[in-house]
Amino acid sequence: MLLKNKTALVTGAATGIGEAIARLFASEAARVFLLDRDAARNRAVAESIRAAGGWARDFAGDVRNAVEIAPAVESAAEQFGQIDILINNAGIYPRQPFLEMTEEQWDEMQSVNLKSMFHCLQLVLPHMIARRAGNIVNISSVTFLLGMGNMTHYVASKGGVIGLTRSLAREMGEHNIHINCITPGAIKTESEARFVTDEQAKEMMSRQCLGRRLTPLDVARVCLFLSSELSDGMTGQCLNVDGGWAMY
Ligand SMILES: NC(=O)c1ccc[n+]([C@@H]2O[C@H](COP(=O)([O-])OP(=O)(O)OC[C@H]3O[C@@H](n4cnc5c(N)ncnc54)[C@H](O)[C@@H]3O)[C@@H](O)[C@H]2O)c1
Repeated sequence: MLLKNKTALVTGAATGIGEAIARLFASEAARVFLLDRDAARNRAVAESIRAAGGWARDFAGDVRNAVEIAPAVESAAEQFGQIDILINNAGIYPRQPFLEMTEEQWDEMQSVNLKSMFHCLQLVLPHMIARRAGNIVNISSVTFLLGMGNMTHYVASKGGVIGLTRSLAREMGEHNIHINCITPGAIKTESEARFVTDEQAKEMMSRQCLGRRLTPLDVARVCLFLSSELSDGMTGQCLNVDGGWAMY
């Protein structure tokens, strides 16, 4: 019951890490608003959370567009008078060699992975400032710490997420708003399987200290810590959930 009476908005909640976060938060008694552009899967996750006794409401929307995010934020504020937690998780990670990358591909990556956070934060922060309380977790990637070929547009966007987290933590500290970041390593999700072969996954795992594939729940648990009072003394931080791949 770490999140009892808390209202949380999770982006990219229809599958993978976002789905695990939504499910874990609901099991800790949070009221969870799920936002994803995949309306059908998002609805199925919300229904399954409710079937398990949790509170969940789904919204279909593209995080690149503020008007498609606003209904979820407004609904949470109207229904409960508060938004306590924002998880900026929605993201994409297609590979592309740098010299074959088009300007559109570069812009698309920045728009989904980084500018989306600008939109969500601008909509949610006024509600948090009004109540002098809030926990925000932005999902970056350990690839920013390591560098990763064929992913320059992705790694640049995830570095931007860390810069955004640190600077906004400084700006929002006076309002008692906590803004932290998670840098996941190689997490076994459906999407990862589209881009990473079994051989590549094995190779990445060999760089970890822990000898197992990490799952979305591993990330969700750290997200829960950063969204609860357990991490009240932290802001502007970045936690690696990577099985001991990078050590910074
Ligand atoms: N899986 C990994 O190994 C890994 C590692 C490091 C960081 N991450 C980051 O974690 C986050 C989640 O990754 P995942 O593996 O769970 O991805 P995923 O593809 O499994 O899930 C992402 C979700 O975001 C949604 N989404 C994508 N673009 C959207 C948009 N424009 N508007 C609304 N929803 C959108 C998708 O529909 C999907 O439901 C991403 O930010 C990713 O960069 C993942």
